[in-house]
Amino acid sequence: MHPPPRMNSNVRVLMFAASLRKESLNQRLVDLVAAMVGKRGADVDRVSMSDLDCPSYDGDVEVAEGIPHGARTLRERLLACDAFIVSSPEYNASMPGVLKNVIDWTSRFRPQPLNGKQAFLMSASPSMAGGNRGLWSLRIPLEHLGVRVYPDMFSLAQAHTAFHIEGHLINETLEKRLDATLGCFLDLVEAAKHYPAMKKEWVEFLGEKPDAATDRVETNLVAR
Ligand SMILES: Cc1cc2nc3c(=O)[nH]c(=O)nc-3n(C[C@H](O)[C@H](O)[C@H](O)COP(=O)(O)O)c2cc1C
Repeated sequence: MHPPPRMNSNVRVLMFAASLRKESLNQRLVDLVAAMVGKRGADVDRVSMSDLDCPSYDGDVEVAEGIPHGARTLRERLLACDAFIVSSPEYNASMPGVLKNVIDWTSRFRPQPLNGKQAFLMSASPSMAGGNRGLWSLRIPLEHLGVRVYPDMFSLAQAHTAFHIEGHLINETLEKRLDATLGCFLDLVEAAKHYPAMKKEWVEFLGEKPDAATDRVETNLVAR
C-alpha cells in the first residue's frame, strides 16, 4: 500500500498549453495534469493560449499603444500564482513563436512578473522524443527572466496514441511517474513560498559593472 499523497493546499498553479489548436495534444496533457495537481490540494488556474496570444513584438507598437492584452493577461495570472506549468508543442526543434512572443511582451513589464516564479515544463508530440528539444529552448528565456525551472521535465512521446478516451495515459506506470514528479515539484513550490531564504534576486547580467543606464535589477530585499 502506498501512503496517500502529501497535500499541497497552500499553493496556486497557473496552467496552459502553448497551442492554439482545438485538438491540441498538449491541451490534453494539461487537462490530465490539472486534475492531478488539483487532487494534491493545490489551486489550479487555467488559461488558454488564445487568451495570451499577442501581435508580433514591435517596439513602436509598445511605445504607441502599450503592452497588448494577451501579455497583460499572463502578467495578472502569474502575479496571482506561485508557479506555472506549461505544456508546449515543439516546432522545428524549438518552442512555438506564439509562446516566445508572449514571453517577450511579458518581459517588458516592471516589475518583471516571471522573476522568481517556479515552473514545470511539459511537452507532447507524436514523435518519439515527445517534443523534448523544444523544452530545452524554452528553458533559456525563462531562466534568463528569473524563472526557477524545475530540473525534471515531462515529454509525452507518441502522444497521439498515448491517451485513453477519458483522458488518462494508457501506460499506467508512466502516469504514476508523472504524478510522483508533480508531487515533488509542488512540495518545492510550497517550500519556496514559505521559506524566505529561498526567494531570489534578479540582476540580468550579474558580474557586469553596475550602471543605472543599463541595469535590469530586481531584488526581494529579504532581510538576512
Ligand atoms: C511548424 C511545425 C513544426 C513542427 N516541428 C516538430 C518538431 O520539431 N518536433 C516534433 O516532435 N514535432 C513537430 N511538429 C509536430 C507537432 O509536435 C504536432 O503537430 C503536435 O501535435 C503539436 O502540438 P498540439 O497537438 O498541442 O497542437 C511540428 C508541427 C508544426 C506545425
